[in-house]
Formats: sequence, C-alpha cells, structure tokens
Amino acid sequence: MGIGVAQSLAQAGYRVVLVDVVEAALRKARDAIYRGARFHHLLRQGAPQQNADEVVGRIAFATEAAALAEADFVIENVTEDWAVKRPVYAVLDRLCPERCIFAANTSAIPITQIGGATQRPDRVLGMHFMNPAPLKDTVEVIRGFRTSDATLQVAEQLLRSLGKASVVVNDSPGFVSNRVLMLTINEAIFLVQEGVASAEDVDKIFRQCFGHTMGPLETGDLIGLDTILLSLEVLCEHFGDSKFRPSPLLRKMVYAGLCGRKSGRGFYEYA
Ligand SMILES: NC(=O)c1ccc[n+]([C@@H]2O[C@H](COP(=O)([O-])OP(=O)(O)OC[C@H]3O[C@@H](n4cnc5c(N)ncnc54)[C@H](O)[C@@H]3O)[C@@H](O)[C@H]2O)c1
Repeated sequence: MGIGVAQSLAQAGYRVVLVDVVEAALRKARDAIYRGARFHHLLRQGAPQQNADEVVGRIAFATEAAALAEADFVIENVTEDWAVKRPVYAVLDRLCPERCIFAANTSAIPITQIGGATQRPDRVLGMHFMNPAPLKDTVEVIRGFRTSDATLQVAEQLLRSLGKASVVVNDSPGFVSNRVLMLTINEAIFLVQEGVASAEDVDKIFRQCFGHTMGPLETGDLIGLDTILLSLEVLCEHFGDSKFRPSPLLRKMVYAGLCGRKSGRGFYEYA
C-alpha cells in the first residue's frame, strides 16, 4: 500500500520519503511507481499524462526511519500487526518534528490505540486508502478519540490536493469499511472451504448478480490474504466476537505462501 500512497503524493508534486526496512521492497517500489506513473493517464479517466522520471525523482528511498526527521506529515503503511506498528510509532514520535501529523493507513487497528502509543494523540488520525491508492477517489478518514479538528482539516486538505474526497468516521476496530468487508471475504472463503461453490462462482455471483466490479475472493487476492488474516485477528481480538474468526482455509493458504496477487497465487493465479 505504501507504494500506491507514495505514487499518489509524488504525482501531486509533493516531495516524498519512502521508508521500508527491506531493501528489495524499495527496489520493487521504485519500479512499480515508475510504471504506475507512466500509465496513470490510461487507467484513471481525466488524469493528465505524468512524466514518470519526474514523479520517481520526487521520492527519496530509505531503509532508515531517520530519513523522516524533517517530515511534515507521515502516512504509515507497515505490516498490519501491532507488534510491528507500535515500535514504529515510538521511533517516529521521537524523531519527527512536533508539528508532524501521523496518519495510519491501517485496515483494522484502532486509531485511538495508535494515538495512545505517542505523545501527540491529537495529531494522529486514520487515513484508510483503498487499493490501488492512485486509482481510488475516496479515502476513509478516521477520527481517534483524541484527534483534533485541526488535524482532520489538514488531512482532508492534503487528500483534496491528491484529487481525493474523504469520508470521516469515528474510531472503531475495522472502522466502517473493513468491519463489513473482512467479514464478507472471510465468509466467502468459508463457502469455498465447505465446497458450496468454487472461488470463480462465488465471485461471479457478486459481479453478475450484484453488479460489483470484483467478487470477494478477487478482492481478497488484491488486498493480500496475509493482510486479510491479520485484520481478522485484530477484529477478533478487539471485539472478542467469534464471528470474526479467520477461516481455516485462509490460514492454510497464508501459511503456504498463497497470499494473492503479491505472491503470484491466491484464489487465482497471476502472471
Ligand atoms: N493491502 C491493502 O489492500 C490495504 C488497504 C488499505 C490499508 N492497508 C494497510 O496498509 C498497511 C500495509 O499493508 P500491505 O498490504 O501493503 O502490507 P505488506 O505486508 O504487503 O507490506 C508492508 C511493508 O511494510 C514493511 N515494513 C515492515 N516493518 C517495517 C518497519 N518497521 N519500518 C518500515 N517498513 C516496514 C515491509 O517490509 C513491507 O514492505 C497495513 O496496515 C494494511 O492493513 C492495506
């Protein structure tokens, strides 16, 4: 997700620092952003043609969080696991200027929990981008218990400058989108597991009967089945409700490395 968010920011003219602890992830990001920017005008109606070299040229790629020491706004996109995110916020809080706002692009972790792990909970909010970020028009913005109005205003203004609208919701695990979507994808996986229908037929029903552009299993593959599993675990933990228990088939696929598009295979195969 960080790749798409960085592309969106750089295309709007911002100077961006993209940090990942894995060097290979940064190489992949650079290639993906170059390709994404080059073909952006063909994929998003009405978008101007971009100079891909200039877009990539606005991005500094770094393996150390220290590169964020002068950042005005951080959009965090690390793995959906509190054990991974928490120390990242401790480092950012120490490193970044006091004025800096932290936006979490989490799928399910409560924004109030993230804000509480910093000394600046009023400057922490959720910015839930949809995938692929450069092609989606609207972002779910989440107000944590202590997020200030001023922080929300800056965040919505930033999104407008990217050509994106926002819908602001109050904090709750999974917010609006993923409290519903994760349950739907998980239930669709149960249907495949139980042999009620194939993945293709489940998706066909959503596309052809409901007019959705993608079925729940295609959507799961796009998001990443590992991220779906982690998000369901977060929902399960926070609500204590077994309706969010991940399906055994989902677990099995993730353990087998079948994570969807990002790994070349999930419910479908990708070249
Ligand atoms: N996949 C989606 O469609 C989607 C949509 C909206 C939000 N999100 C959220 O965005 C975040 C990222 O999701 P993803 O699917 O891209 O996950 P991912 O696991 O594919 O990628 C996470 C990246 O974070 C990097 N990382 C891990 N620890 C780090 C650290 N300490 N510092 C810097 N980088 C670190 C990893 O190397 C990896 O490249 C998650 O919180 C997820 O819930 C995902």
